[in-house]
Amino acid sequence: MAKLEARNIKKSFGDDDYSLYTLDGIDLAVDAGEFVCIVGPSGCGKSTFLRIVAGLDVPDSGEIILDGQKVTGTGPEKIMVFQEGALFPWLSVSDNVSFGLKINGVPPEDRQQISTRYLEMMQLGQFARYYPHQLSTGMKQRVAIARALAMDPDVLLMDEPFAALDTQTRYTLIGEMQEIWQRTKKTIIFVTHNVAESAALGSRVVVFGNRPARIKTEFRIDKPRPRHAEDGSLADIQSKILAELRPEVKKQGDLDD
Ligand SMILES: Nc1ncnc2c1ncn2[C@@H]1O[C@H](COP(=O)(O)OP(=O)(O)OP(=O)(O)O)[C@@H](O)[C@H]1O
Ligand SMILES: [Mg+2]
Repeated sequence: MAKLEARNIKKSFGDDDYSLYTLDGIDLAVDAGEFVCIVGPSGCGKSTFLRIVAGLDVPDSGEIILDGQKVTGTGPEKIMVFQEGALFPWLSVSDNVSFGLKINGVPPEDRQQISTRYLEMMQLGQFARYYPHQLSTGMKQRVAIARALAMDPDVLLMDEPFAALDTQTRYTLIGEMQEIWQRTKKTIIFVTHNVAESAALGSRVVVFGNRPARIKTEFRIDKPRPRHAEDGSLADIQSKILAELRPEVKKQGDLDD
């Protein structure tokens, strides 16, 4: 049985006067411990799909099944990292990371230890006492990633988490994510615009077509790890993904004209 299953997910926004058809029957089965990357043109519905998987939004029809149960809301077993890392401005970096642990009744010393571990992993150890407004966009995003990892969810849903990061940090985190994934066997769905990133991270890369989105195609990637975004051995798979993606992005341009 799949760990997580999206069954014929359809979603539109608006009303009779303005209706935007976004997801047109997404079927996706993800096994426990898979690292699935989703790529697709801007505005095709990737974030919408991830929000539905997280239980933050409801589909018009279809259902999400997690561990054999229909998803009806959010929960600590599946944590989302948002495209724009949303932090609590009134909490310090360290308290942001440990907020969910506190809610779950984890004792203060353990919270402190977990928070320090993940902040150091994100190279933010010395910023634990800072507040979000004192950080750059990329730093805030790294705090949001640390916060999600600290919760140790079964399923991690990541919406372009590295988009705001500089190349060097992004490369470091591509390595860290693979290491975390291999060590913890988490099930990860990771949305990205970056084809090289998807090929380095994913055990499977799923390509969404233009809005209303359906799954256009998918690639399994079983190259040895750790992989790097610039690995020559990934060049072939990267160009195959790009070849599927390019016409969809082009359609987007046609629609917007
Ligand atoms: N709450 C909403 N109300 C109305 N329309 C919405 C809402 N959320 C999303 N949409 C529309 O649904 C479409 C898909 O949006 P979504 O954010 O899922 O795209 P995306 O694939 O994540 O894009 P990007 O790659 O730019 O992040 C867009 O056209 C957007 O305008
Ligand atoms: Mg998005």
